[in-house]
Amino acid sequence: MVRTLNSTEARAYYERFAQNQESQGWYEDAALDWLARHGDFGQAKSLLEIGCGTGRFAQQLLTRHSPDGARYVGLDISWAMLTSARDRLPRTGTPLVQGDVTAGLPFAAGRFDRVIAAYLLDLLSEQEARTLIGEARRVLREWARGTRPDPVKPDLVVVDPPRAGLHPRVVERVSELAPRRVVYVSCNPATLARDLKVLASTFRIEMLELIDLFPQTFHIEALARLERAV
Ligand SMILES: C[S@@+](CC[C@H](N)C(=O)[O-])C[C@H]1O[C@@H](n2cnc3c(N)ncnc32)[C@H](O)[C@@H]1O
Repeated sequence: MVRTLNSTEARAYYERFAQNQESQGWYEDAALDWLARHGDFGQAKSLLEIGCGTGRFAQQLLTRHSPDGARYVGLDISWAMLTSARDRLPRTGTPLVQGDVTAGLPFAAGRFDRVIAAYLLDLLSEQEARTLIGEARRVLREWARGTRPDPVKPDLVVVDPPRAGLHPRVVERVSELAPRRVVYVSCNPATLARDLKVLASTFRIEMLELIDLFPQTFHIEALARLERAV
């Protein structure tokens, strides 16, 4: 039986777990390095990271990949995680906000041009994951909703779905948007293969890497970089 934690339980757990995250977070590194290298972060001027934890990925992005003057906002449910992030990141110009993404994002629409959620979606129930994606869409620029009369095309789309893979409507929307590059972070090669089969009519698979994050288990992380074919 699978039971996800409610908001109070999740917060209590991560308050306790924060000190372990510092010493055990290395399991995320291989996939996050890949995301940093292939995510075109050199183009991103305003970033929101949901579930920013102790700020390790933010530090990597801001020191090595983001352009000068890039704005970063980190959000996390746990004060203990945010305390570590505050120690790690530059004190000025790096707002860190406490909040539970399942209750919505406390940011206005159109405020960011990237929303990052690494190792968070799979902690949420399907309904909560939908809320997160809906909220991410809301705070991204209007083109993400396709409601602008003169839509500006995104250059890059990053998707990091839970094991079920992308909803068919998301696959359709990504194909319609036809960005120059798509980065697909997957924790289930079977649903990745299913989605790539459809995306292959619009994109070329330029790179596909498997990362064995959990040796001796059947779990495998898969990362794909796609480039628009025409
Ligand atoms: C697996 S950890 C990832 C940590 C992060 N990548 C790092 O390098 O420290 C998941 C993070 O999501 C946060 N989190 C869990 N549920 C959340 C929620 N509902 N809203 C906001 N943050 C949440 C946790 O506190 C934790 O910091």
